[in-house]
Amino acid sequence: TYVVTENCIACKYTDCVDVCPVDCFHEGPNFLAIDPDECIDCTLCEPECPAEAIFAEDEIPDGQEDFLELNAELAANWPVINEKKDPLPEAEEYDGKEGKRELLKR
Ligand code: SF4
Ligand code: F3S
Repeated sequence: TYVVTENCIACKYTDCVDVCPVDCFHEGPNFLAIDPDECIDCTLCEPECPAEAIFAEDEIPDGQEDFLELNAELAANWPVINEKKDPLPEAEEYDGKEGKRELLKR
């Protein structure tokens, strides 16, 4: 499966959802999560993310491994999103900031 990681938080550009052939992105207030049971590893979303927040599960950056389980948990609670929308207003400011996981809204 592919996994959305920390740098999506407070950005939520949503370019990723337009290319997913199986609609496995789910939307929360300031983060998207991929349903690992639906993702077919097509790889299309990874290069689309302006924040470079999407990784294959075996390439998740050090220290963010828990995002694999987090994506599964959040995707189960959030509705599907399959059309791109505007990024969050603070997206540019927060792109690349450290410690964003504390800002995650559920
Ligand atoms: Fe969707 Fe493909 Fe990305 Fe999986 S790898 S989330 S199937 S676009
Ligand atoms: Fe998030 Fe990147 Fe998609 S910031 S919403 S994973 S395009």
